[in-house]
Amino acid sequence: MNEKRRQLLAGISIAGAGVLLNACRNTATRSGGATNDENKNEGTAPGEAEPLEVTATEDLMREHGILRRALLVYQESAVKLRQDVASVAPDALEKAANLFRVFGEEYHEKKLEELYIFPTVKKVPGAPAGYVDVLLAQHARGREITDYLLSVSQADRIASNSVEPLAKTLESFVRMYEHHAAIEDTVIFPAWKAAIGASELDAMGEKFEEIEHEQFGEDGFEVALKRMEEIEQSLGLSNLDMFTAPPPPAK
Ligand SMILES: [Fe+2]
Ligand SMILES: [Fe+2]
Repeated sequence: MNEKRRQLLAGISIAGAGVLLNACRNTATRSGGATNDENKNEGTAPGEAEPLEVTATEDLMREHGILRRALLVYQESAVKLRQDVASVAPDALEKAANLFRVFGEEYHEKKLEELYIFPTVKKVPGAPAGYVDVLLAQHARGREITDYLLSVSQADRIASNSVEPLAKTLESFVRMYEHHAAIEDTVIFPAWKAAIGASELDAMGEKFEEIEHEQFGEDGFEVALKRMEEIEQSLGLSNLDMFTAPPPPAK
């Protein structure tokens, strides 16, 4: 098995990983890099609509969607830790930090943004270029925080005197990365798209898919999504309805 894919799946039981791999093969929903009909129809049952192409910018933004779900896990973990330290299994936190490392830092940040997006945006005169150095510094700070989370979560249980520093670190990371991803989605990615033009954007969509396959063997997004769902489930965070806000106070 591809090493990055193995890392992404780390912690899943062998049987679980097998099911997950098979599920990914059968439900491929992405055909951005497909160059022939056989590839395009992979995973499409008779009568089922063909999967639509994912553009390079959509790809980056849906990766942010996975990372935002990890941030939500961090945010909810900080709340739960303060209420009852035993309610957060270190293992669940470790899995979320591991996903952030493999999918967010080593793939999305290092292989796509730092190699292709930022260098292009930096060369174009205008406001977006001014963000690049800060975004790079935030990638670096994020990696320090992930190192810390991976080390804290090695213990069998989280010590009560670690709760506050851990909860604060989780919250400050969430705050930083929410701002970071929002600027990328609304300023950086549009600036990059405008700089490279339509035909280059198509070519980059295929390039990104090649990189994803090199990193994860198959569809890294699908694997990361399944992984995220498992983590949410293990922490009791998988019911969307529990996050519906209460009504506002009566006037
Ligand atoms: Fe970034
Ligand atoms: Fe990003």
